[in-house]
Amino acid sequence: MDYANYIKSVMDFPTKGINFRDITSLLEEGPVYRAAINDLAAFAESKNAEIVVGPEARGFVIGGPVAYSLGIGFVPVRKPGKLPREVATVSYKKEYGIDTLCIHKDSIKPGQRVLVTDDLLATGGTIEATIKLVEQLGGVVAGVAFLIELTGLGGSELLKDYDVLSLINY
Ligand code: PRP
Ligand code: ADE
Repeated sequence: MDYANYIKSVMDFPTKGINFRDITSLLEEGPVYRAAINDLAAFAESKNAEIVVGPEARGFVIGGPVAYSLGIGFVPVRKPGKLPREVATVSYKKEYGIDTLCIHKDSIKPGQRVLVTDDLLATGGTIEATIKLVEQLGGVVAGVAFLIELTGLGGSELLKDYDVLSLINY
């Protein structure tokens, strides 16, 4: 299926010069959403993933259904102050300033095979921080999966040591 047909591109959102790739138009089409999740789940299964990890918020819309369809667990990665138990944290540089992401410390067992997933890869800062959290807990990144990869922003360079699947490339 050509998933790109279901993505709406919005120029100058949220700021001038950004061509925003809007996944909500794909999510609205049930059979297309399901097919995309099934493709990502097949990739996770082929890598023997035992658990799925995804960053908020759009990573939940991808990672949750992938985990559900495989009957394995889902672990949320969240901004500070959202997770109630003890957390591991990673800070990373954004275009302006520093951002921090957190994961429950006891959510991944050492050696557990993890599918790391998000809706979109741009500079790779978010997914790199998510991978660092997984590896801090002793998880093994079995694969990294996206609905969309924006090429030319450096994200794929950061992931060159991992098995990556992107359903759409721009
Ligand atoms: C978007 C997107 C990815 C990230 C990709 O999330 O969902 O998580 O940006 O960009 P990067 O590769 O340069 O890190 P955003 O921070 O907009 O948050 P949201 O999911 O809550 O909308
Ligand atoms: N996150 C970072 N860059 C983006 C883009 N161009 N479209 C949608 N989400 C994004």
